Amino acid sequence: MSDPAIGKVFRITAEAAQGTIAFDVEENRKLVLALEDNGVDILHRCGGNAKCTTCRVEILDGDPGEIGDPERVILATKTDLNDHTRLSCQMRVIDDLHVKVVRQASVEGIDAGGRPQE
Ligand code: FES
Repeated sequence: MSDPAIGKVFRITAEAAQGTIAFDVEENRKLVLALEDNGVDILHRCGGNAKCTTCRVEILDGDPGEIGDPERVILATKTDLNDHTRLSCQMRVIDDLHVKVVRQASVEGIDAGGRPQE
């Protein structure tokens, strides 16, 4: 049972280069930061501004929430993404989620990018 003083907590399960990582996050936490703070070196090359799409994840299960205009517009410019792709820098956690992390700094050998704002 969750503690009402700290609000709702959701379970994130992430398929990443290093294997499956599972952790709990508070409701409304930005997904990209939750991943990074739990050991997934996900790329976020534009600093969380819906410009680069390197923070993309595939939603395998769970409700990723409504998609906003900046995210919808940039994703529409990409032809190599499937319908379950979302930008983790534009997502706030509102449900248990199972996601696949697509791009990681350690895999690509590049800097992750500036840390997105809370
Ligand atoms: S689109 Fe660049 S960090 Fe999310």
